[in-house]
Amino acid sequence: MAPPPTLPENSFAASVHVATHLAPGWAQKALREEVRQAFTSMPKELSPRWLYDQRGSELFDQITQLEEYYPTEAERALLTAHASDIARTTGVGMIVELGSGSGDKTRTLLDAFQSQGTLRSFVPFDVSETMLRMAAGLLHERYPEAEIAPVVGDFNLHLDRLPSPQNRLLVFLGGTIGNFYPAERTIFLKSLANTLRCGEWFLLGADLVKDSKRILRAYNDDSGVTAQFILNSLHVLNRELDADLPVEDFSYVVVWDEDEERIDMRVRADRKIDATIGALNLPVSFAPGEELRVEISAKFHPEALVAELRAAGMVVHKQWIAAGNEFGLFLARREVEI
Ligand code: AVJ
Repeated sequence: MAPPPTLPENSFAASVHVATHLAPGWAQKALREEVRQAFTSMPKELSPRWLYDQRGSELFDQITQLEEYYPTEAERALLTAHASDIARTTGVGMIVELGSGSGDKTRTLLDAFQSQGTLRSFVPFDVSETMLRMAAGLLHERYPEAEIAPVVGDFNLHLDRLPSPQNRLLVFLGGTIGNFYPAERTIFLKSLANTLRCGEWFLLGADLVKDSKRILRAYNDDSGVTAQFILNSLHVLNRELDADLPVEDFSYVVVWDEDEERIDMRVRADRKIDATIGALNLPVSFAPGEELRVEISAKFHPEALVAELRAAGMVVHKQWIAAGNEFGLFLARREVEI
């Protein structure tokens, strides 16, 4: 979506082989289809995937450094404490990371596998080829012995195209599992389990239900970075779909949904708005106070998540829960067809 930053010539990043499963212009096309749907139905909704253009990725990076945003640090601490246990328990030679982004969370994990001497290859899997190329360069420097084999794809569609020459550990960190609605999550976990062979491993990082004030604060920071991050979705629509939404006339709204146990992030029109999505020739209007949902972030109870994994065909062998239910890491194994 955003213009790719230029890569240094002759660098490893420029030369690394990236397997691509997305047709050129795929993201543009998917965004158009989604917006045509989402803006002609009620209530309006957009998927969080579009939050991560260049500016959005920078803002998300800032979020992870906010004092209020506890999940990043909590997960990092769990990984640091238990990476060698994970390496010993699984003993795999290949790690695949879904939605790896810049891939720096995984370093702790890769370090543990490297010192155990089992790490042979790392497959970062992401929708952004630019991000993957940049990460690949750094990873190659740090793990010269390992093969770095990035794959471009969408984890809702292309899980079956991942390489599987040997036993693997699939990792899905950061609490991104919270972005799915329950029904979508069931489908995702089933298809993930189906791409694993019996005995292969899945490491999941998930944010947990806790004091709702603490959760809300993480998504409603004093410096307003989260608000900018969510409102950036309107800038993405304006740029990518030639729309003229007046971003300054929208506000960020965040709610803790007590029944569904999830954070619900929206933008709300401060007045009546009439705009046009140029690329779709689609007039859109917002009534005063009307909202557009941009992201949900579900929080989990460990037992319920273990049961969901079990229902999908994966058995949790170990789990680590940070003090105060801050965050959870779940290490599950694909079992015989059930
Ligand atoms: C990247 C989906 C895990 O839900 O906490 C952070 C995204 N949105 N603040 C989350 C996010 C607003 C984040 N995930």
